[in-house]
Amino acid sequence: MAPVKIGASILAADYTRLGEQVRDAIAAGADYIHVDVMDGHFVPNVSNGVPLAQSLRPLIPPAVVMDVHMMVEHPEQLIPAYASAGADLITVHVEVCPDLHRVVRQIRELGIRPGVTLNPDTPLSALEDILPQVDLALILSVNPGFGGQSYIPSSTAKIARLRAMLDAVGSAAELEVDGGVKASNAREIAEAGATVLVAGSAIFNQQATVAASIDALRQAIG
Ligand code: DX5
Ligand code: ZN
Repeated sequence: MAPVKIGASILAADYTRLGEQVRDAIAAGADYIHVDVMDGHFVPNVSNGVPLAQSLRPLIPPAVVMDVHMMVEHPEQLIPAYASAGADLITVHVEVCPDLHRVVRQIRELGIRPGVTLNPDTPLSALEDILPQVDLALILSVNPGFGGQSYIPSSTAKIARLRAMLDAVGSAAELEVDGGVKASNAREIAEAGATVLVAGSAIFNQQATVAASIDALRQAIG
């Protein structure tokens, strides 16, 4: 089994020294830099515009993935701008894509790896038909919009069901989990079949350095 990857969600970072925090995360071995894009409509918060993604791009080496999680209505309108800003992977929500295939194709045609995700209350069946077309499927384990929330326990069973769905279609897509990921639940999440664990507040916080926090997550995964 390939080692589980770690994504650092910058939403919890200290934005007065964002570059330094991203460099710290990469130096500590973060595999993904996770950029949450929020529009104040799909979710009650606003975050991480295109200029920010553009500014981060030169800090992210080719082996690290700039992972853009779009929590926005009409993502198709913003996808070209985030593609130009240098996203490696763009994940959209099924709830705002009545024509999900078209949006996934749009991302692919821009040379970006497409991902799909769904809110905790959206059934996995909404993802089923698109799975063969995507490079990543994301289980959101909190309601989207804010960092620092608690992991919804039923997410683990959902991860295991998505793992089985991906395996059933022979998909090598990443299974990413985002929301409330901590050293205390990282192992359970990885054992359920996740391949990328995203953490915000468990990496960027006042209690420990970024490096120590990433180490703790790695050790927890085992
Ligand atoms: C939630 C975001 C997450 C968030 C995770 O809407 O998609 O990426 O930053 O933060 P933590 O790890 O603190 O739950
Ligand atoms: Zn996210």
